[in-house]
Amino acid sequence: MPRFAVPTPDAVPIWFVAPGAWESVRASVGAPAAAFADACGFKPKPGRIQLLPGEGGRLAGVLFGVEPAGAAAADPLAAGKLGASLPEGVYRFANPPGDPALAALGFLLALYRYDRFKAEQTGKPRLVAPEGVDADRIERIAEAVAFGRDLVNAPANVLGPDALEQAAARLADGFGAGLAVTRGDELIADNFPLVHAVGRAAAEAPRVVDFVWGRRDAPKVTLVGKGVTFDSGGLDIKPASGMELMKKDMGGAATALTLARLAMEAGLDVRLRVILPIVENAISAPAMRPGDVIVSRKGLAVEVGNTDAEGRLILADALALADEEAPDLLIDFATLTGAARVALGPDLPPFYTDDDALAAAIAGWSVRARDPLWRMPLWRPYEAMIDGTVGDVSNSGTGAGQAGSITAALFLRRFVEKAKAWVHFDVYAWNPKARAHGPAGGEIQAARALFELLSERYPAR
Ligand code: BES
Ligand code: ZN
Ligand code: ZN
Repeated sequence: MPRFAVPTPDAVPIWFVAPGAWESVRASVGAPAAAFADACGFKPKPGRIQLLPGEGGRLAGVLFGVEPAGAAAADPLAAGKLGASLPEGVYRFANPPGDPALAALGFLLALYRYDRFKAEQTGKPRLVAPEGVDADRIERIAEAVAFGRDLVNAPANVLGPDALEQAAARLADGFGAGLAVTRGDELIADNFPLVHAVGRAAAEAPRVVDFVWGRRDAPKVTLVGKGVTFDSGGLDIKPASGMELMKKDMGGAATALTLARLAMEAGLDVRLRVILPIVENAISAPAMRPGDVIVSRKGLAVEVGNTDAEGRLILADALALADEEAPDLLIDFATLTGAARVALGPDLPPFYTDDDALAAAIAGWSVRARDPLWRMPLWRPYEAMIDGTVGDVSNSGTGAGQAGSITAALFLRRFVEKAKAWVHFDVYAWNPKARAHGPAGGEIQAARALFELLSERYPAR
């Protein structure tokens, strides 16, 4: 678990060195260590790590090159590189970096590994919490992100619909949240036809997990997450290259659970509801077919243009359920489209909302929390691309691959009517390459920015 170290007098000091600041840091590290750094060719380039020798072969200190404070490229989370690279031991920040809380968070986030199947566990560095930061809050964020990453990284044979339901149930139980699960044929009786259609071909039954937590008359915040534990594409089967990462297609559900955990741990003053439609998009005789028309929970007839556009199908019923009680804020997360990656790449998830004030608040927290997000438009003229031919709406449309993330968002919007505000995040939930604050593999995007936003709007009473 990513925790801070107990302060000890022999914690190894880490000096942050911006270009031009090396001369002033030299004096603090002492002449022999400074001479050693020079001999190693140390230059305070951003990301450069230089170990300094001390007496008896001990590690006496670490130099870490950073961008000058205020530089556009300056990223406090870049301190994660220290967590990812330093040898086992206890460290402390010797000179406070620009944003010590985010630098410390970056360090903790970088310690994460998915090592469940590794025989050997490697020793990790530990950090003493810097002065003046809210150490508990930073630890809670790092632990919640680790929890979410573990869910995304778990292979589909380990985390199928049963296991994902159990993970949600364990979290709900831990906070005394009331949980309801609708499974298998109950989905037909309880009117979740799209969730049933997508998940009925799999060995583990499709289901809707629904839990509620918090003061009954507090503002209603509802989180919905796409929980496709594996996306084969269905009968419109994906090619091998497209299927490779599809264990992560429950990344939206993992994101919702991560944010829910943060909100509940912090005791935010919300009536929180989490709705997860959970399925495996598999292939067998009962699989839905291209061309099928299914009347959704909301009553709209949905044409299955492509069985691989399954995420928006299960979300349609889940959003319709969420919308019925007109929540104050409805947020959904989904690894919904490849098109979002084409537009913005893996690190910058798009979000969609008609609420300009909410969009501005999200964008602001995204910058302050270093959790990159970018608003894209619910572009009404493209509505025609998803009109159905025999049904009301098509899940694939006639866009011929153009504006795919936008048309997916427009599809979801048709199922949201009463919510006071709705925002949709088309997340990737994956780091293709290691980043300073996280290894390659499962990633949780948007949850940190939204936790800050919710903390500001609905502080604990
Ligand atoms: N889970 C995928 C989207 C996805 C693919 C996310 C790769 C991240 C990386 C989704 O279910 C899907 O297959 N979407 C299709 C929709 C299309 C058939 C209209 C897509 O994006 O190609
Ligand atoms: Zn798909
Ligand atoms: Zn999918």
